[in-house]
Amino acid sequence: MKNFKLILNLVIVVSGFMFFQCTSEYTPIAGIDGKDGIDGVDGVNGSDADAALCIQCHSSTHRDPIINAYASSGHATGSSWGRGTGSSCAQCHNNEGYIDYLSNKYFETDDAGDLVEDVNGDPIPMPNPDGYAVSNPINCTGCHTAHRSFDFSTDGNDYALRNIDPVKLVLDPTIHVDLTNSSDALGLSNACVTCHQPRPSYAIPAGTEDYTVTSSRFGPHHGPQSTMFEGIMGANIVGSTAYPGAGANGDNGHRKGTSCIGCHMSETTDMAEGGHTWLPSQESCVTCHTSGAPTEVTGFAADLETLHGLLFDLGAITATGSTVSGTYPVKVAQAMWNYKTLEEDNSKGVHNPKYSKALLKNSIEALQP
Ligand code: HEC
Ligand code: HEC
Ligand code: HEC
Ligand code: HEC
Ligand code: HEC
Ligand code: HEC
Repeated sequence: MKNFKLILNLVIVVSGFMFFQCTSEYTPIAGIDGKDGIDGVDGVNGSDADAALCIQCHSSTHRDPIINAYASSGHATGSSWGRGTGSSCAQCHNNEGYIDYLSNKYFETDDAGDLVEDVNGDPIPMPNPDGYAVSNPINCTGCHTAHRSFDFSTDGNDYALRNIDPVKLVLDPTIHVDLTNSSDALGLSNACVTCHQPRPSYAIPAGTEDYTVTSSRFGPHHGPQSTMFEGIMGANIVGSTAYPGAGANGDNGHRKGTSCIGCHMSETTDMAEGGHTWLPSQESCVTCHTSGAPTEVTGFAADLETLHGLLFDLGAITATGSTVSGTYPVKVAQAMWNYKTLEEDNSKGVHNPKYSKALLKNSIEALQP
């Protein structure tokens, strides 16, 4: 009898839990108000303006158009986001891989959290780096995390970006790219560099020895935008057109006066451009090009066509622009590298007008019989 009662009680208790758990939509009925508590200690006066500022960015009305813009962008819809399961692609083609890469989970690090490099300056990969079961497009949580500071008027607003630090390039970790300038004091555009840089698949042809091209995909895979912007990692063939110098000290009006986000994410009245569409906005160009910006560097398409023709005649490149494997005089391999760099940069020279022009003109000159 006692046992029966115990079991019955248990059943009642257990079904009570079940009832509780199955009714997540249950709205409790408010009881009577309790007694007022004692007053707290007066805090330091806060500022209402700060709260208003927070709400400006954090309200749903502000966020919905951003979510829509993102959803339509190549960052959400591109087909290459399926490629990020392998550990050599995940850092740029998988939201999780990107987060892990920035947390240095891919590489050996020293006590200061810096990458440990081998004698060639290459980061030492972790033993048996795991791949990923799924590969997701970069999304809000990849680029954004938490604010470094809430004192925006002193420290600036970091937009809670995960990475605004200078980026060590994967093709040459001795080079740190830092896009900080007068238009971007915190270096928000450094958020783009980790991915939009050449992958370390091939060495840039240099020296005087012949160079062996081993693949139809030779070149700086696939987003050399940051290095082009800096004026680095082309094959600087000596020729009659001067190179503009590199980075902040170089002669690139765009590198000095604006930045990736300045052109690709500026505020605009046209919702189809700028912001989280990442499409360059015309309105951002006319702040400098007051009568409208040219869409390409003067003669860019014609010069690229000429370079293609010369490489095609040498059997170094196909009609559709794939490279042909083989051993070439270094100048030919350099011109192939430059052709692919300018093509993959995909800005018609805009990212660095003078550097693009010098690479084109000097490559053409070097191949002329
Ligand atoms: C200029 C825009 C902007 C302003 C102003 C701003 N934030 Fe943010 N904040 C962001 C963005 C972008 C994120 C990234 C995460 C997201 O979108 O939810 C973020 C993230 C956060 C997070 C982390 C959210 C999480 O899920 O971990 C907190 C907390 C936060 N903000 C609080 C504040 C407070 C408090 C203020 C005002 C003092 C403020 N923010 C002002 C843009 C802003
Ligand atoms: C996690 C790596 C990653 C980061 C960070 C990143 N991108 Fe991208 N981005 C990509 C990849 C990969 C693609 C190509 C997607 C596809 O088409 O498959 C791309 C595509 C683009 C495109 C072409 C969009 C289109 O409509 O086809 C632009 C422009 C661009 N990114 C600019 C930026 C800018 C500016 C930033 C910095 C705010 C940035 N990206 C940050 C990886 C990244
Ligand atoms: C250092 C970053 C980085 C790494 C590592 C990387 N990619 Fe990419 N990849 C990019 C970026 C950035 C783009 C987009 C470039 C653009 O839109 O201009 C891209 C584009 C692509 C595309 C689209 C190409 C096209 O022409 O449409 C494919 C496919 C691709 N990557 C495959 C891979 C594979 C496979 C791996 C690994 C073996 C890999 N990527 C490693 C940055 C990277
Ligand atoms: C590829 C990186 C990237 C992704 C993905 C991304 N953001 Fe941003 N976001 C940025 C950068 C860089 C800025 C600061 C530059 C600017 O706005 O000019 C920014 C700014 C913002 C701001 C403040 C500026 C504004 O326009 O109000 C908000 C809010 C924001 N992001 C929300 C989001 C949300 C929500 C998502 C996902 C739907 C998202 N972001 C996805 C890079 C990214
Ligand atoms: C901060 C000011 C600034 C902004 C913003 C700007 N430009 Fe420029 N642009 C310049 C300067 C200065 C030059 C001169 C060439 C140089 O510095 O290499 C230039 C040169 C150019 C050239 C080369 C023209 C030639 O004669 O070959 C093109 C193309 C160009 N810009 C397009 C654009 C586009 C497109 C945008 C907007 C998406 C834009 N620019 C935004 C300052 C700016
Ligand atoms: C002066 C303005 C300007 C600056 C600064 C700038 N871009 Fe661009 N970018 C352009 C223009 C214009 C195009 C060509 C767009 C087109 O033809 O549709 C372009 C093209 C691109 C593309 C190829 C888009 C595609 O459809 O495949 C990517 C990716 C990109 N930029 C990323 C970047 C990154 C990353 C930075 C910073 C390192 C940067 N851009 C700096 C104006 C700019």
